[in-house]
Amino acid sequence: KRVAIFLSGGGSNMVALAQSMQGDHPAKPVLALSNDAQAGGLQKAAAMGIATAAVDHRPFGDNREAFEAELCKVLDSYRPDIVCLAGFMRVLTPYFIDVYAGRMLNIHPSLLPKYKGLHTHQRALDAGDVVHGCTVHEVTAALDDGPILGQAKVDVAANDTAQTLAAKVLVQEHALYPQVLRRFAQGDKTPLRLGF
Ligand code: GRF
Repeated sequence: KRVAIFLSGGGSNMVALAQSMQGDHPAKPVLALSNDAQAGGLQKAAAMGIATAAVDHRPFGDNREAFEAELCKVLDSYRPDIVCLAGFMRVLTPYFIDVYAGRMLNIHPSLLPKYKGLHTHQRALDAGDVVHGCTVHEVTAALDDGPILGQAKVDVAANDTAQTLAAKVLVQEHALYPQVLRRFAQGDKTPLRLGF
């Protein structure tokens, strides 16, 4: 299976996914794509020998479909079977999601369905949660809402801040996403639960 990985920032999840595919694996990374040509993740992908591309969303303004049409044009030449959103910070419209329906994954830093959207760690702390974590799900038109493919748990400490909690969750993201991708690439959608 050919995997395209979308990122917007440092790309630590892209690195974890790419490293997990280096051995005997049913999938291989064929592209790392970002909406930001300066994203650190693109340099890391290039250093790993993975093709990179950047499609800046800003010239398209509010025309999300036009931005996504450009995404598709770039993607088509790499013929991805699976798209992994990994720290990709642009909301995708049903137009793009329909093209990759059933073969697009996302990792979200909360135990969905709790805390869809942004600032998940602060929201968990504000709610006094003692358990938090991350979720890999299939991407559907509703934001952070598709079928759950895996979750990893993190215990919240009394002295945790949003920053320390984010760091603990990120470690679990790097464990969870590669395991879910390996199974998904083999057609196994049995939800994976780590640390529960
Ligand atoms: C992190 O906040 C992570 O929780 C979320 O995306 C952000 C950046 O991740 N999934 P990465 O280091 O770019 O993979």
